[in-house]
Amino acid sequence: MVKESTALTASLRNMPEIEREPDLSSIAPLQLPNDRQLVMRVMPMPADANGNGDIFGGWIMAQVDLAGAVLPARIAKGRIATVAVNQFVFKQPVSMGDLLSFYAKVERIGKTSVTVNVEVFAERNPAKLHVVKVTEANLTYVAIDHAGRPRPIPAA
Ligand SMILES: CC(C)(COP(=O)(O)OP(=O)(O)OC[C@H]1O[C@@H](n2cnc3c(N)ncnc32)[C@H](O)[C@@H]1OP(=O)(O)O)[C@@H](O)C(=O)NCCC(=O)NCCS
Repeated sequence: MVKESTALTASLRNMPEIEREPDLSSIAPLQLPNDRQLVMRVMPMPADANGNGDIFGGWIMAQVDLAGAVLPARIAKGRIATVAVNQFVFKQPVSMGDLLSFYAKVERIGKTSVTVNVEVFAERNPAKLHVVKVTEANLTYVAIDHAGRPRPIPAA
């Protein structure tokens, strides 16, 4: 019995899917940025995982949209809508147990729009903390009036 389970464990270990322990040593550790604003922090739940056990990209995109809206909503002093996701890069997979921090920087304030750059960092392996940049995106939000039409960004 013990022999069988040892043999089973050994054969499972030979399967490529089982040998997916991330090699953290190959990813340079980072510090969380101090030249950007922390706009959101969240930890993904098992329901947010995809078939591989990593976190579903669509869930990350929704979080980035929410986080990206924080500074534009303040600047627009009212209702805003996402008009464009200009760029979105998944640099590293997000794993269960990662604590995600969303840092934003305003790139441009136009007549009716605000464009922000959002960087997402995962803090993983609390015993030996490792910070990894997992996602970067660039989004544009438009200030809208009660009828959903663009309105000018108010003076600061
Ligand atoms: C947002 C919305 C009101 C803008 O209306 P519009 O008639 O397209 O607006 P305009 O063409 O006048 O552009 C408004 C601003 O957005 C910017 N913009 C429009 N399209 C853009 C694009 N593809 N990329 C970047 N900026 C864009 C314009 O440059 C302009 O900015 P500025 O005034 O600062 O120069 C309208 O497109 C809309 O309701 N979209 C749906 C929003 C939504 O439902 N978002 C959630 C998606 S799930």
